[in-house]
Amino acid sequence: MKNEVLSIHYRECKVEELPPHLCELVQKAKEACETSYAPYSKFHVGAALLLDNGETVTGSNQENASFPAGTCAERCAVFYAHARWPEAAATHIAIAAIDSTGQFTENPITPCGICRQVLSETQKRGGRNLHVLLYGRSGVRIIENIEDLLPFSFDLDAE
Ligand code: THU
Repeated sequence: MKNEVLSIHYRECKVEELPPHLCELVQKAKEACETSYAPYSKFHVGAALLLDNGETVTGSNQENASFPAGTCAERCAVFYAHARWPEAAATHIAIAAIDSTGQFTENPITPCGICRQVLSETQKRGGRNLHVLLYGRSGVRIIENIEDLLPFSFDLDAE
């Protein structure tokens, strides 16, 4: 039997330390929280996706009284981007959230498992790393490869 250990890589910085175009992407994710429909959880998430054609697509969580019918901000943005610009690769996604106190979360929130799987396929489809920027009032956490968020993702090609 072999024992293996995986380690992940991430960076942290203040939002002001980001290059201007990524500061702007984080700002768009924060603004997207305002379009969230979250009457049940009162947790308002915004995502902003930057594409290699220069376009930015935003999304927010959209809940439903039939709970599983709702969707997360990340998937809202990613699926719209693929539907609108199927040939474009996504290069960066910024994520922010306002909690039930009405404030942006102190610590960055991280995508749920289903969104990680979707982001993983988005990265694969684009053929280049999809950088993730997770915003919190305490700072921004940056993950440069989705594999660091979801090692061993499901992949039919692995058959
Ligand atoms: N949510 C997101 O939109 N993205 C995440 O990364 C985590 C959770 C949403 C789903 C639900 O509408 C609310 O936040 C509470 O879980």
